[in-house]
Amino acid sequence: MSDDYTIRQFQREDIRAVVNINKSCLPENYPDQFFLGLHHHAPKSFLVAECDDEVCGYIMCRIERGISSFKKAPVKKGHIVSVAVRHEYRNKGIGTQLIRAAIEGMREYGASEFFLEVRKTNEAAIAVYENLSFEIKRVLKGYYRDGEDAYLMARQSGLDEEESDTGEQTN
Ligand SMILES: CC(C)(COP(=O)(O)OP(=O)(O)OC[C@H]1O[C@@H](n2cnc3c(N)ncnc32)[C@H](O)[C@@H]1OP(=O)(O)O)[C@@H](O)C(=O)NCCC(=O)NCCS
Repeated sequence: MSDDYTIRQFQREDIRAVVNINKSCLPENYPDQFFLGLHHHAPKSFLVAECDDEVCGYIMCRIERGISSFKKAPVKKGHIVSVAVRHEYRNKGIGTQLIRAAIEGMREYGASEFFLEVRKTNEAAIAVYENLSFEIKRVLKGYYRDGEDAYLMARQSGLDEEESDTGEQTN
């Protein structure tokens, strides 16, 4: 297994691979149309990682308008709806790079802050988000179908200079 990967925009032909990764990595699963709808809505922030000529991870996002998590004002926000990396390719930085690249994509749609929900027990994901300057803003009680609470985590745009360096997408 190679350590190299590339990040690129999702294409419709990736749908089976992305749905399979979603099913194998997360209990929150969706019909194909949900994925394709998000792609139609915000293609620049629906990305896949390719490893060994196969899709090994994805991230998909939605652009929403709402009240800021940081000030009492309406803003355009980027919502990370789902992100996952196949087990055998984890801890190589792919998840972090997918999130960084998706943030860049969401900025292009005018989003000035970014947020997501994550299970309180999902230590790996929380670590990744905290490394990217997301902070826990609220606890969403019983957010998941099985009753587990979520953290709502959010961050503002332009917090660290690493992001202005769109960086190597090949590792
Ligand atoms: C969250 C996820 C996308 C991260 O992908 P990844 O490619 O492994 O991420 P990275 O390699 O960029 O970073 C992994 C980080 O998690 C940390 N980590 C891994 N397992 C951990 C654990 N059990 N507890 C705490 N931190 C952990 C690593 O130390 C690493 O941080 P570091 O680079 O500072 O050392 C991946 O774990 C995944 O697909 N999980 C299942 C789906 C999921 O939970 N998605 C998020 C839903 S909100």
